[in-house]
Amino acid sequence: MRHPYWRLLVFVLVAVWPLYWLYQAWSFALGPDPGKVLVERLGLGALILLLITLSMTPLQKLSGWSGWMAVRRQLGLWCFAYGVLHLAAYAVFILGLDWSQLAVELRKRPYIIVGAVALFGLLLLAVTSNRYSQRRLGKSWKKLHRLIYLILPLGLLHMLWIVRADLQEWAIYAALGAVLLVLRIPALMRRIPRIGGAGQKVQPK
Ligand code: HEM
Repeated sequence: MRHPYWRLLVFVLVAVWPLYWLYQAWSFALGPDPGKVLVERLGLGALILLLITLSMTPLQKLSGWSGWMAVRRQLGLWCFAYGVLHLAAYAVFILGLDWSQLAVELRKRPYIIVGAVALFGLLLLAVTSNRYSQRRLGKSWKKLHRLIYLILPLGLLHMLWIVRADLQEWAIYAALGAVLLVLRIPALMRRIPRIGGAGQKVQPK
């Protein structure tokens, strides 16, 4: 396995946040509604991890360092894990595990449907992210993983629906997302200049 310490560092850096937030909730450091804060932090964490995952290929192209690609799959899986924790926190702290309220909730918060579709897309990418699926699906694997073009805008739409009035933070994520999606166009990806390192050729997904 290449870059084992770098992989471990990334693992620790990403795993530590949900534990830290839980600790903060436990010690009453998240204000009067810690459940809501946990839902928001995990949702934002999932979106940020999606953006970070998408930036790995351009960073590899730019720097020539293969370490970026070594952690890309891990980061994508973490994005999914944060999404699952976000859903679990919603079910426990907002829904109170009262599933009879789900229909009312969906009418009150229709953006949940958009989030659920995005999470389902992330599930499909997560379960097919291994080498076995890559071999089995052949060319369809690339097509399937183009779902990312849909998942990111859905995640951004889900957030926009919630933040509405406070557009500044959303606009930063949306702009970053737009740049990263445009960079995935192979003709543009090939034009990224190499600033450092020898590096290898990278096939954009
Ligand atoms: C079934 C799936 C999902 C459900 C039920 C869900 C539910 C929610 C709810 C209820 C909130 C608002 C909490 C509040 O302030 O009242 C929220 C916020 C958010 N969610 Fe989701 N979500 C889902 C999937 C996702 C996914 C897949 C992403 C990212 C890719 C995501 C990203 C966000 C973001 C960025 C916020 C805003 C956080 C903030 O206010 O700073 N959600 N979600």
